[in-house]
Amino acid sequence: MAKRASKKRSASRTRQSSKKLSDLFYETLKDIYFAENKIIKTLPKLAKAAHSKELAAAFNKHLRETQGQVKRLDRVFRMIGKPARGKTCEAINGIADEGAEIMKEFKNAPALDAGLLAAAQAVEHYEISRYGTLRTWAEELGLAEIAELLQATLEEEEATDQTLTELATSVINLEAEEEEQQREAA
Ligand SMILES: [Fe+2]
Ligand SMILES: [Fe+2]
Repeated sequence: MAKRASKKRSASRTRQSSKKLSDLFYETLKDIYFAENKIIKTLPKLAKAAHSKELAAAFNKHLRETQGQVKRLDRVFRMIGKPARGKTCEAINGIADEGAEIMKEFKNAPALDAGLLAAAQAVEHYEISRYGTLRTWAEELGLAEIAELLQATLEEEEATDQTLTELATSVINLEAEEEEQQREAA
């Protein structure tokens, strides 16, 4: 008897927790949907501000990828039968504000690109964290096709992060040259 009762309890606990997870999944999708749309507005500003042509090209390439990621999210919303909606994400707003501050304070300064890179990597790390979580939750919810879509975006974010890491070296070299030129001119 006791055994049956515990089985019943665990069954209801499973039902309850899976419902909560699907709600959390939807809420987090709205969070990243807001973040991606914010990033679409931010990347052109970063590309315009960058001194290094390579860095500007990397920002523009990721802008196109990000537009595709929003379309992928639209598909995910359709697949779960919920409206595609964003929910204000203060984390991404904060990271974007920091980037804007760097652009203002380091305008025309040699260290500008290093600052832009740092801001962009903070964005990528936020996205990697969110997409990793969402992909795992999709798997737990038995949404295999959605998990694959989220994994595809996760891989793009990771590749972008990697590109930015590689660019950091050339950007820092460029900045050292600029600093030297400024010293010579002074
Ligand atoms: Fe993204
Ligand atoms: Fe990204």
